[in-house]
Amino acid sequence: MTVLKSKRILLGVTGSIACYKAADLASKLAQQGAEVNVILTSAATRFIAPLTFQSLTGCRAYTDNNLWGAEGHVLHVNLGRQADLIAIAPATANTLAKLAHGQADNLLTLAALASKAPLLLAPAMDGGMYEHPATQVNLDILKARGATIVGPQRGHLASGLNALGRMTEPGELLGYIRQLLGRSGPLAGREVVVTAGGTQEAVDPVRAITNRSSGKQGYALAQAAVDLGAQVTLISAPTALAAPVGCKLVSVISAEEMGAAVLSKVKGADVLLMAAAVADFRPSRSSKQKIKRAAGVPDIRLVANPDILLELSKIKGKKPQVIVGFAAESKDLIKNAQEKLGAKKLDLIVANDISAEDAGFEVDTNRVLLLDKKGNQQQLPLMSKEEVARVILERVVDLLGE
Ligand code: CTP
Repeated sequence: MTVLKSKRILLGVTGSIACYKAADLASKLAQQGAEVNVILTSAATRFIAPLTFQSLTGCRAYTDNNLWGAEGHVLHVNLGRQADLIAIAPATANTLAKLAHGQADNLLTLAALASKAPLLLAPAMDGGMYEHPATQVNLDILKARGATIVGPQRGHLASGLNALGRMTEPGELLGYIRQLLGRSGPLAGREVVVTAGGTQEAVDPVRAITNRSSGKQGYALAQAAVDLGAQVTLISAPTALAAPVGCKLVSVISAEEMGAAVLSKVKGADVLLMAAAVADFRPSRSSKQKIKRAAGVPDIRLVANPDILLELSKIKGKKPQVIVGFAAESKDLIKNAQEKLGAKKLDLIVANDISAEDAGFEVDTNRVLLLDKKGNQQQLPLMSKEEVARVILERVVDLLGE
């Protein structure tokens, strides 16, 4: 379970065709363990039924009918006060206007006015309505008051226009919600650098030597660090993954580029999580032109790449307080991991046996052993890479406190 576990999210849904995406957002939030209460405006109920949300979240979905029901006199206050976060997605121009001016003429705007919780707004409307100075001024007012405005995105709109007005996708909104909820976590104010993915060492403009790293474990670490409130820089070799919301992404290709990025970004950082699978060797020369088949089988000589962690260990001066390395081993797991822990002067090493089919490269699960410099060993069972990331970050928080 993530930062969303047991968090109370009040999801406001207002009248836009993007209401169907709000159902997906509600589902994603509930699947991550949040308690999701939904308030639909009367316009929203024209697009989607409260029952849709109740079925997805297992919680109540309220409409203005509840405002005047038996519990009406306290409902808006309670929903607003109890929320850890209010997300209004989609947020129409009309609701933004009401929020900006403190109007409270329906259950949703009443609850928002009664709340001190962080407010996330995902505008959705036609292009002209979004560009209208009235809407822009309202958004400025809300931003100045601390609301987080996400989107809208440019694209096809229900009116046929191609303009700014589409609601941001639920997966991305979820990322913003996690970042907002994590803000005051144990890594608030800390800078964490994470590396991920397998570097590519060019042979020619179309070919490269690389490895089977998917980047999943590194990206999960970056998300787990954001969840705990850290400022995260994700230095990534090419992967098929989207960087978690809240990370500063630095894209690199080769081991040499990754080395340069790490050495520059760790200055001032508190933590380095070196999850990337850095190629140990690269072709001694990379051909500027594509190597042609007719020229015969090429003779590719390899030279050693710098060992980034080893180089960092030799640098004098300020370094991250906690440095975590990873060891992917096909035999002698503990012995090899211990050697790397010592040689690279790590605080913690995360070792995994890559010969297991359900752990390590490409798959979504991992089974790792954590070894620290004091000699403590912690074997974790088979877990999702997200869970492994959370355990590693818990250890990092402890190490920072020592
Ligand atoms: N690493 C690094 N620079 C390299 C190679 C690896 O900084 N050129 C880092 C990895 O990101 C990882 C740790 O060192 O955190 C161990 O990586 P691994 O490939 O397991 O170890 P190597 O030291 O390269 O040893 P070997 O490949 O021989 O097992």
